Amino acid sequence: MRTDTAQIVRLVDYRPSDFLIDSVELDVSLHPTATQVRATLVVRPNPDGRPGAPLVLDGDELNLKAVALDGRSLAEEEFEASPQSLTIMQPPRQSFTLTVETELNPTANTKLMGLYRSSGNYCTQCEAEGFRRITYFLDRPDVLAVYTTRIEADRDEAPVLLGNGNPVESGSVEGSNRHYAVWEDPHPKPSYLFALVGGRLGRVSKSFTTMSGRAVELAIYVEPGKEDRADYALDALERSMVWDERVFGREYDLDVFNIVAVSDFNMGAMENKGLNIFNDKYVLASPETATDMDYAHIEAIIAHEYFHNWTGNRVTCRDWFQLCLKEGLTVFRDQEFSSDERSRPVHRIAEVKTLRARQFLEDSSPLAHPVRPTQYREINNFYTATVYEKGAEIVRMLKTIIGNESFRRGMDLYFERCDGTAATVEDFLEAFAEVSGRSLSHFARWYEQSGTPRVTVKSHYDKAAGTYRLDFTQSTPPTPGQPNKEAMAIPVVLGLVAHDGSSVEAACEQVDERGVFILDKAADSLTFTGVTSLPVPSLFRGFSAPVKVTLDLPNEELLVLLQHDSDAFNRWQAAQTVAMRHLAALSNGAQVSDEEIDAFSTALCSFMDTDALRDPAFAALVLTLPSEADIAQEIGKDVDPDAIHRARSDMRRRIGKTCSAHLHRFYEELADSGPYSPDAASAGRRALRNASLDLIAAADQAAGEELAAAQAESASNMTDRLAALSVLTTLPGAAREEAITQFGERYRNEPLVMDKWFTLQAAIPEDDTLERVKGLMEHQAFSIGNPNRVRSLIGSFAMLNQVQFNRIDGAGYDFLASIVLRADELNPQLAARLLTAFSTWRMMESTRREHAQRALWTISRKPNLSRDVGDIVSRTLD
Ligand code: PHE
Ligand code: ZN
Repeated sequence: MRTDTAQIVRLVDYRPSDFLIDSVELDVSLHPTATQVRATLVVRPNPDGRPGAPLVLDGDELNLKAVALDGRSLAEEEFEASPQSLTIMQPPRQSFTLTVETELNPTANTKLMGLYRSSGNYCTQCEAEGFRRITYFLDRPDVLAVYTTRIEADRDEAPVLLGNGNPVESGSVEGSNRHYAVWEDPHPKPSYLFALVGGRLGRVSKSFTTMSGRAVELAIYVEPGKEDRADYALDALERSMVWDERVFGREYDLDVFNIVAVSDFNMGAMENKGLNIFNDKYVLASPETATDMDYAHIEAIIAHEYFHNWTGNRVTCRDWFQLCLKEGLTVFRDQEFSSDERSRPVHRIAEVKTLRARQFLEDSSPLAHPVRPTQYREINNFYTATVYEKGAEIVRMLKTIIGNESFRRGMDLYFERCDGTAATVEDFLEAFAEVSGRSLSHFARWYEQSGTPRVTVKSHYDKAAGTYRLDFTQSTPPTPGQPNKEAMAIPVVLGLVAHDGSSVEAACEQVDERGVFILDKAADSLTFTGVTSLPVPSLFRGFSAPVKVTLDLPNEELLVLLQHDSDAFNRWQAAQTVAMRHLAALSNGAQVSDEEIDAFSTALCSFMDTDALRDPAFAALVLTLPSEADIAQEIGKDVDPDAIHRARSDMRRRIGKTCSAHLHRFYEELADSGPYSPDAASAGRRALRNASLDLIAAADQAAGEELAAAQAESASNMTDRLAALSVLTTLPGAAREEAITQFGERYRNEPLVMDKWFTLQAAIPEDDTLERVKGLMEHQAFSIGNPNRVRSLIGSFAMLNQVQFNRIDGAGYDFLASIVLRADELNPQLAARLLTAFSTWRMMESTRREHAQRALWTISRKPNLSRDVGDIVSRTLD
């Protein structure tokens, strides 16, 4: 294996920059292939740096045109320049001005980092290291400067010109058809938060008054003609601003807040100061083109980027190892926002489903890493579920441990102390340790130790003594670079439930009045006294810690929780645990008797009788079995995806049969009524109805096909239309093909809808899907250069289609390998993301494992791999 140890960046090697940059004046003259950039930097030696060091600025594929120091052009021997760096050998010992001119070709920039074009519009992406693709710079997050940006462009090509901060001036360039705009951002920021946009864009806007009475103009820019599809995002932005004032006391700090939607974007969105840039799929929505889930994602991501204004921008990160400081915290904040705006338990279940599907998977794979990594070869590969989602769970555990009030005071102290600085995880924890008076040094291990802890619980009831004991043990499996693990500080929120549903009032010293117990040793026991009948323990309520739990309770007792627990998360969890036991057994070839499956189905039926219509969104989650990927993860080794697929289909069929009457009743009673609204309650009714349709179809093909085909045809919104089509994809035959064709025709000019069409087809678990996917790559709506298209078709095939990606003949792996190599030549970040689908390869049975390894070798041997792909492939094979 290739090991370029030289390229590894390590946390322990951090040292302050030798120079600081106080201010930046950027003059950007936009042109499709020859954009001119003049940067005027005010630089001074850093008192914390090495005296007399040369000034080394970062670059990436840059073309230097001129360089001057305090207005004087530098002689050849005074500097060294390459596309990757610019070194001034003997810079002055006091503040000086450096002027650097570079020329860029935004049209040729297919990496979508730095300045590039999307649908003809100019835009930038600078996180993590994209600013160095615009000009030479100290491109590191601990160098904070104030920026003034002058943007000039052809009036026809780019009538709209946007920058960070506030607009200060605009006008025509005399004697030409060019115009300009000047933007000033008074808040010091690192270069990764820089942005500019120039293009032909439509606009929606709204005024907002902040808590202290300042007026802010909010605006969203989209492709002209799609303005009405930005209304929901604008509303979500306003609600986010109000929420952050109310819940965290955080106010916005500029006169304008702009969001631009672009069609070519590597990630979800970017929090550039005062000028967020979004992947258009997280802005544009109409009932006809977006599903309920799309609306929920838009709301969450709009909030996320807005919340970064305080957690990320006002307080930024010292270095990229601290990425979770802004991302984990901001995910926590957006999750809290969505929970307040929607249903908290339903949202919590959705969060945990993604955490398990993505982060637990990552933690058990060769790509496992700590929430705060200690080294990287390519930082782009660390925008992961671990940094984001597990990072958010750490913040939530912290809040559980110290309590709501201390948490809020700790946040206030953190903002007060760190505003305007580039902070570390230690700075963050210190604020909470101080306000709560608690040591958080053991807790801090969550940032350092990778892998998902397992907690095993055994229960003992002594009727005569009236005592109930819970024995806890914890362990964390080895992960790359961490063979031996230490015990974690795990908050367990718990309660005891009686078989008749009443809650058991029992005393236990180690459990506080909120029901919180902190398991911080490898083994510990809780003894409850005054327990008069055998209780059922409800542990990790609300999923109080990101761990895997093994409980020695029989299925019947777990099902008591489904019926009676006061904690909605654990009601759902109980049903999932029982379902998973059956699914894993069936997948491993064990027989599960009809009585056992019936007991589960019957519990679901009685749940549906009593509860389903009180909270349909919750009921839909209860009715949805763990996914094939979840089951594979549970089994963990020698996985046979075909067996898993058969097991899950079989169980869906058996539940669908037993519960048929209930399902049909829901399907009818919850029929669409009135105009579409994306609110959580309406979405919940659609979710339950569509979950019912899925089970109806599993049990009775003909009935399912008829209902689904009719719904696909007549649906009044995208949620119902897509759900129907999704059910049809599980039913091979003419009706399905007809529905697929019609959908493709109807939406052929709607790229974001065509993405859904690609995804559905890529996920069909049948042998000819690979050929279908290859065929769809020729479709006029597909483009290998557009990340949304590639992820919808190829990414979905690799991540959602367990049976076909993991084909026993290895053709799925070979296909993905060939696409990764093709994509790598255009867009390494996109290629590296696709490649992570291989991270499950070691879990597979031996034939698949060998095929996967061969495909990975093919990739690793290719000359000139990007650092992004080189890093992932070598870690995946290690
Ligand atoms: N910082 C962005 C977010 O989480 C994600 C991102 C990273 C976007 C890198 C683009 C490039 O909101
Ligand atoms: Zn973020």
